[in-house]
Amino acid sequence: MKNKIENLKSEILGKLSEVKDAEALRELEIKILGRKGELAGILKGVAKLADEEKKEAGQLANELKIAIREKFEEAKEVFENSAKKRGFTDATLPGKKITRGHLHPITIVREDLEDFFQSLNFMVLEGPELESDYFCFEALNIPKWHPARDMQDTFYIDPKGLSVQGEEDGQPDLVMRTHTSPMQVRSMLEYGAPLRCVVPGRCFRSEATDVRHEHTFYQLEGLMIDKNINIRHLKGVLVAMARHLYGPETEVRLRPKFYPFVEPGFNGEVTCFLCHGQGCRLCKQTGWLEIFGAGLVHPNVLKAGKIDPEKYTGFAFGFGLNRIVQLKYGIEDIRLFNSGDLRFLEQF
Ligand code: FA5
Repeated sequence: MKNKIENLKSEILGKLSEVKDAEALRELEIKILGRKGELAGILKGVAKLADEEKKEAGQLANELKIAIREKFEEAKEVFENSAKKRGFTDATLPGKKITRGHLHPITIVREDLEDFFQSLNFMVLEGPELESDYFCFEALNIPKWHPARDMQDTFYIDPKGLSVQGEEDGQPDLVMRTHTSPMQVRSMLEYGAPLRCVVPGRCFRSEATDVRHEHTFYQLEGLMIDKNINIRHLKGVLVAMARHLYGPETEVRLRPKFYPFVEPGFNGEVTCFLCHGQGCRLCKQTGWLEIFGAGLVHPNVLKAGKIDPEKYTGFAFGFGLNRIVQLKYGIEDIRLFNSGDLRFLEQF
């Protein structure tokens, strides 16, 4: 068997050196390395040998297989390069498979919500991720000394040589925005009242991460300002959105919560879409899932946006987009979104 393998090796190398073109090379490759080729025949023969002979012959046959494969690859490259040099493309060569990508689950839900809000006449806006302390906190009624700053711990940036949109002069205190709410005042300054917009975007918080908290996540902000806007308008829009997301039976519950930039402020919950309000593991037996913060825009925020609070009122809300996507697809750990793990992403 040892001799047979060595003879085959020199026979193959001889044939390889005589090959004249890519077509002949391919034919020879099939004849030798193909499923029913000469090498497969040898390997079958090895399997039938007695144990002591099998080990040595098996090793030799495998080495031969690897060496021959390499020789074929080298020969292929030589033909391809010479074809390229002659400006010739061999159209008969098998094509390279192009794998088709797809949207990230957060993008799927974000685009769906953008369409939904556009159908209600809301503009879709974007804002800077690197924000000034002013728009992220001060303009939202959170002065430096206010304890509410502790609710959103952020990353502060050395501003040397940097500027942000709207603050090109001077050197502002820069932060990675902790929420999309800075766009409330920015959009008021840009468009005035009346105003309807949603702002999807990436946010950053200095968090100890866990299955529900990330340092980098997405929110979707909503803002509507007009004459006589009240809580019923807020609830109407939120109910429509919740039913769009989770089905026509879904209810919305607003419970008081403090946010300095709204008055009154709410913690927003929807009926659990898994148990329909009966109580289950997902909603921790409460029947409700918490997915957003909301409220009527505080007069100080309207003033910062140069809108007269005596004439106009408005509502605002902010969703955690990751949270919505987690609930929609039953994703247990929020950290999977940023993991770059294709086994996770390929499921959508
Ligand atoms: C805010 O960020 C307010 N700006 C929301 C708001 C807008 C209130 C307008 C009133 C008016 P909060 O910190 O609760 O609020 O975050 C809102 C949502 O963002 C949360 O319900 C949650 O879904 C998501 N979120 C907050 N922190 C994280 C985090 N570390 N990781 C993932 N999602 C988060």
